[in-house]
Amino acid sequence: MEEFFDTEYDFENRIVTNELSAEDSASEPTLRPQSLVEYEGQSKVKENLKVYIDAAKLRGEVLDHVLLYGPPGLGKTTLSGIIANEMGVNIRITSGPAIEKQGDLVALLTNLNDKDILFIDEIHRLPRTVEEILYPAMEDYEIDIIVGKGPSARSIRLTLPHFTLIGATTRAGQLSTPLRDRFGVLLKLELYTPEELCKIVLRSAQILGIEIDGGGAREIATRSRGTPRISNRLLKRVRDYAQVCGDGKIDGKIASFALSKLEIDGLGLDNLDRRMLMTIIKNYNGGPVGLETLAATIGEEAVTIEDVYEPYLLQIGFLARTPRGRCVTPQAYEYLGVEPKAPLAASDPQIRLFDMSDGDV
Ligand SMILES: Nc1ncnc2c1ncn2[C@@H]1O[C@H](COP(=O)(O)OP(=O)(O)OP(=O)(O)O)[C@@H](O)[C@H]1O
Ligand SMILES: [Mg+2]
Repeated sequence: MEEFFDTEYDFENRIVTNELSAEDSASEPTLRPQSLVEYEGQSKVKENLKVYIDAAKLRGEVLDHVLLYGPPGLGKTTLSGIIANEMGVNIRITSGPAIEKQGDLVALLTNLNDKDILFIDEIHRLPRTVEEILYPAMEDYEIDIIVGKGPSARSIRLTLPHFTLIGATTRAGQLSTPLRDRFGVLLKLELYTPEELCKIVLRSAQILGIEIDGGGAREIATRSRGTPRISNRLLKRVRDYAQVCGDGKIDGKIASFALSKLEIDGLGLDNLDRRMLMTIIKNYNGGPVGLETLAATIGEEAVTIEDVYEPYLLQIGFLARTPRGRCVTPQAYEYLGVEPKAPLAASDPQIRLFDMSDGDV
């Protein structure tokens, strides 16, 4: 057991985190695709969006309100910019926690032009009182504001321009039902396949002027946990190794060498993933273990486990979510080279039937 706890883990600077880090912020704007054609993968989402966008343009109407949801780094912010480009309208960008008071939102809404897009990132963190203003704004393009105080206070109805609200969230389950119901278009972003990520790596390399071959791109893609943000980050890290230890060109061999130096294994797992899986195996015989208990045991926040660790571990079938908690699957035991001590809860088909994913709305 001790071996998993005596190393100090650097949660903050985790290389394979899907959350935005300082080093990403600088390059993300240049690497962001600007049109649907450039936007790799997410074919279902793109297909649907294209129909809605074309239809709205044909009718000369405003696009319906769109909710984008899915784990961090999959391209929600990127897609909202693309929607604005494709519609040929302006986009105003803000986020849930930035809008503290009703007045903040009223100011934003009344400053929009006809057909403009208002993008609210982390919309699940919008204060409830602010959210209430959004209901009539989204439904009827109207808001009621109270002017004055006490007995002289009166309510004034303001008519807003016809706008499109795009909300982005990593946790659709935390959105209130009235808010969720007011979005006409709900789009769930999925983790990318290694093939899609491979194309993203090649595209980013071209933009950044990095020489890379197919083998190098594949190596980075398969270890990026289905997440373009991680692909782009790994590409830059691997470039450093290629320049210092090689001739600057990235091929499969130098990519594999660099990624193993970064302690990212063939599936993109790092020490923190392995530690979490081993904790469930050693302390809880593979599970089920409740999310909060697990969080306390490994010293991470429950939301981080849900948003950062789990999506990929669920996707590759190493972890199962059950009504009684998280279970490590037989595949993960095999990968980690651990013999199960007793029959595993995760092998019980009855238990695996339940997927408690709150990602679906
Ligand atoms: N489909 C895609 N094709 C090419 N590159 C992509 C795609 N999706 C995302 N990216 C790249 O990944 C980076 C991260 O994407 P983005 O910032 O849009 O993610 P996000 O879902 O908004 O993340 P967060 O939840 O942290 O806000 C972008 O800078 C972009 O370069
Ligand atoms: Mg974003």
